Amino acid sequence: MLQKAQWSKEILDKVPSNLRSDYWIGIAKRARIFYYSPERVSKSDLENLTYESLADKKWKGRIVIRKSDNIYNQSLVASLIENNGKDKTIKWAKSFVNNMARSPKGNDRAQILAVAAGEADIAVANTYYYALMLSGQKGEEQKLAAKKVLPYFPNQNDRGVHMNISGASLLKFSPNKNNAIKLIDFLLTKEAQEHIVNNTFEYPMADDVLPNKLVPGNDLNFKQDNNTDVKIYWDKQKEALKIMLSSGWK
Ligand SMILES: [Fe+2]
Repeated sequence: MLQKAQWSKEILDKVPSNLRSDYWIGIAKRARIFYYSPERVSKSDLENLTYESLADKKWKGRIVIRKSDNIYNQSLVASLIENNGKDKTIKWAKSFVNNMARSPKGNDRAQILAVAAGEADIAVANTYYYALMLSGQKGEEQKLAAKKVLPYFPNQNDRGVHMNISGASLLKFSPNKNNAIKLIDFLLTKEAQEHIVNNTFEYPMADDVLPNKLVPGNDLNFKQDNNTDVKIYWDKQKEALKIMLSSGWK
């Protein structure tokens, strides 16, 4: 159980309102983007690519993504429900599942590996996993696989790419509320943010820090979805899962 907190001015200044609530605060950001094979995906395939357009027939048998029990996918579908409505999302999910190259399995990195191995042409995964693979921390094979694919930021001509957060919150019975808020203030300082982005490969919440060089979009020159409130991911996750399962998303 979480407790409501009165956030400091420092926190309110640094964290956009769609990335916080009265109960939790975004500390770092990540995007859920696409990774494609430059050999098998054409320029025209990539024109104005969106989460929505991955339901198009041209992607039949070409997409890999992890299972519907995964919270990143549930949040993504929750965002589609929020932005496009339930009926459109039900339709989308059916076509999207039809386009999968295989029955979903493995973690986010496994999806990138599948594209590198030629099992699929395009994968959906969070940005920090790609950087982690490129860093070599997961072994030479994963580093080489990551180099075989290219990142793509979808929905750049509409609402922007789907963002998620790493957050901090106060437990209901936290005895040192003021110190806990001070700790969160500290996590948003330049010093702490630099440490976070270079260890987790996430995007910083603070403006005065740059992402790690291995992270796609490290120039932050891409459009983020700054309108969809992260709170709705939680509110709509159950509904999202229902839609995913009924469309055959394993
Ligand atoms: Fe993760």
